[in-house]
Amino acid sequence: MAILDNFEEDMTYEVLVSTKNEDGSLNVKPFGLKIRDNDFIFKIFPNKTLLNIKNSDELTVYFLQDVLIFTKALTSNLDYDDLLDEINYEISCKISNMDTTIIDDGYGKNVATTIIAKPTKIIEHKKTLPIINRASNQIMELLIDFSRYEFMDVDARNNFIQKLNYSEKIIIKTGNKKHLDSLNLLKKELKQKE
Ligand SMILES: Cc1cc2nc3c(=O)[nH]c(=O)nc-3n(C[C@H](O)[C@H](O)[C@H](O)COP(=O)(O)O)c2cc1C
Repeated sequence: MAILDNFEEDMTYEVLVSTKNEDGSLNVKPFGLKIRDNDFIFKIFPNKTLLNIKNSDELTVYFLQDVLIFTKALTSNLDYDDLLDEINYEISCKISNMDTTIIDDGYGKNVATTIIAKPTKIIEHKKTLPIINRASNQIMELLIDFSRYEFMDVDARNNFIQKLNYSEKIIIKTGNKKHLDSLNLLKKELKQKE
């Protein structure tokens, strides 16, 4: 599995993780991934993905660059065919260890489960030009904040809205239609939460 040699240890990769729900459908959500000695390491807070991992002992990791797919995944608006069009690499993994700890972050005490997963199968989908783009970076930062929205107090929520307005200018200046679609989807979801 030569592609694994390309990973840098201890940096965080933003990926999509797919797990199987009880009814056989897939749950695809964004997560941070670290790699050490070819092990895939996730730190996961209590959520559906964690529940599914505990139930099935396996997960699939998707590496891709399209931030609209990340936005759709986080907001549960993802169409599996759209995802398939954008995947660069798909890596199936078997869980080898799970360890739960209490952590105290900016949002108070929480339980985090460290998952260690071993890659078992790699599928290369499409090759794309590696791109660094400011609009993509802005969207990813907004998505991370958005995923913590429920835990934010009023001040943090107001800061997030300010950040969103600031990001919008960068997105309009440096992004494309997919970035604008991501931003608009995020705004729509935000309105539903208010
Ligand atoms: C880029 C990005 C990275 C994330 N990384 C993590 C992570 O490492 N651990 C975690 O618990 N949640 C992470 N999240 C938040 C989850 O994606 C989010 O809580 C999601 O709603 C979980 O969905 P589920 O309940 O269907 O599993 C991340 C979100 C984004 C946008």
